[in-house]
Amino acid sequence: MNIVVSNVKGGVGKSTTAIYLSAAAVLRGYDPVLLIDADRQASSAEWIEERPIEGVTMVEAPSERTVTRAMTRHEGLAIVDTPPGDERIVKAAIASADAIVIPTRVGGVEISRVLATLEMLTPKIPHGIVICAARLGTNDLEETIAWWNEQKVPIWGIIPERVGIAAGHEARLYREGLDEYDTVLGRALRGKR
Ligand SMILES: Nc1ncnc2c1ncn2[C@@H]1O[C@H](COP(=O)(O)OP(=O)(O)O)[C@@H](O)[C@H]1O
Ligand SMILES: [Mg+2]
Repeated sequence: MNIVVSNVKGGVGKSTTAIYLSAAAVLRGYDPVLLIDADRQASSAEWIEERPIEGVTMVEAPSERTVTRAMTRHEGLAIVDTPPGDERIVKAAIASADAIVIPTRVGGVEISRVLATLEMLTPKIPHGIVICAARLGTNDLEETIAWWNEQKVPIWGIIPERVGIAAGHEARLYREGLDEYDTVLGRALRGKR
């Protein structure tokens, strides 16, 4: 099974989401868990190099050919991190995806990026958005949630803004973040609409 993490926009939380989903999958007993980094910037690859996660194997696959090959040749579960602004790689990853997780942020400008990402999906592929670095209890968050509900785009998770998550590989994985991402993983695995 392949879970692809994608948004045509950068800096929304894709790599963070890919890492936490991989770690959450290990905690659920998935073995092996393969993290495929299709972004030339290699943020999640670097994360795993700097701070390995037991049970997660990483492969860099920054091209259509390599990402397709990595996604179609493994056994078990793979989480795929994708680059922003490279539609061809994203499309290649989507073509072999069983579920798509779309990280986004709160706010109006973010919405159009998610819509652009959604346009690339075959409607049949289960997908859901994850609102990253959310400020709980704010009107902006409530409005964003209401808007996606109206659009009938499932929200698979709301991840609070936390220093422990922003620390990236400088710190160990943040417990609360792992719990939140476990919920996201569960929904992606079930392809919940
Ligand atoms: N829940 C969160 N709380 C705080 N900071 C976050 C959270 N999720 C992501 N970030 C931060 O947002 C920035 C962008 O995240 P990243 O995963 O690198 O996005 P992308 O891969 O989409 O470019 C990073 O500095 C990351 O640490
Ligand atoms: Mg990234």
